[in-house]
Amino acid sequence: MRIGILTSGGDCPGLNAVIRGAVLKGTEINGQEFVGFKDGWRGVVNGDILPLERSNVRGIAKQGGTILGTSRTNPFEGNGGPERIQEILDANGIDAIMAIGGEGTLAAAKRLTDAGLKIVGVPKTVDNDLDATDYTFGFDTAVEIATEAMDRLRTTGDSHSRCMVAEVMGRHVGWIALHSGMAAGAHAILIPEQKTSMEQVARWVQSAADRGRAPLVVVAEGFMPDHEDDPHSERGLDAFGRPRLGGIGERLAPMIEDLTGIETRATTLGHIQRGGVPTAYDRVLATRLGMAASDIVNESAWGQMVALRGTEIVTVGFEEALGKLKVVPQHRYDEAAMLFG
Ligand code: F6P
Repeated sequence: MRIGILTSGGDCPGLNAVIRGAVLKGTEINGQEFVGFKDGWRGVVNGDILPLERSNVRGIAKQGGTILGTSRTNPFEGNGGPERIQEILDANGIDAIMAIGGEGTLAAAKRLTDAGLKIVGVPKTVDNDLDATDYTFGFDTAVEIATEAMDRLRTTGDSHSRCMVAEVMGRHVGWIALHSGMAAGAHAILIPEQKTSMEQVARWVQSAADRGRAPLVVVAEGFMPDHEDDPHSERGLDAFGRPRLGGIGERLAPMIEDLTGIETRATTLGHIQRGGVPTAYDRVLATRLGMAASDIVNESAWGQMVALRGTEIVTVGFEEALGKLKVVPQHRYDEAAMLFG
């Protein structure tokens, strides 16, 4: 069996560990051969193929990014589509595709599988918002990076008696904000799932300042104050047609300053959260997912992806991954909110 691997959508620490896990298990145990598609679905549609042998994955588990490159190309657009992709596979002797990606990638993979292509999936999202898996690789790394940044923001905030606002990723869900905010002892955590009034935010900030603390407010990029209906976006659309987010922290800072009179500064962590080496946890999770993805190819589990349930790797259908977002449940927010202010 010859398998083509692709990484698609936003990159995420741990992608290379998945590739290595799949190639090592596949070549050593499962009798498989591998190639890589360059830049996600773009490489599939254009037949842009890279060698992927054991020697190509040496030492890459600790390397950030993806050695295959990525893009947000939709395989149905332009000259794409199932017939074109099957032609490319046949011309290169490729039997199956292993697609490593998030919701958009898996939705495309499902449509292609429904059209008869042989595809398995590995879920990827730094935001940790896919419901079919308990955790996604990359999330732990992003939380570590964000927490470290917040620890730093707190010492400069303390020195100047300022309120510090830290903006983290989280388009639809606030998992990175919740975990890094709790870890850093934030005085308020603002997430897309919980609309909050600016007066409430100001009360939390004031209460921390009244105790002599420099307030730390953590905000996910998709957060909406209760008087707004859409997340803050000022830079157009991305390749999937979604608004490019980012900048809500800079908007909140003057509002907090006006309401409390406390000098306030905002920092947007942005893509720093997605870059660099994965944590040990993410390397292990990603490696296990890659190995399991090689196994399910041998089982001809087309239209299925590997996922984490508890501490075990399981197999679920693409439709399960696409069904609903894994939002921060109310009780997890309430638990964190007990410590605000
Ligand atoms: O979907 C993951 C994510 O990290 C979001 O939190 C963010 O809005 C988006 O990707 C930004 O990605 P890019 O700048 O690569 O389009």
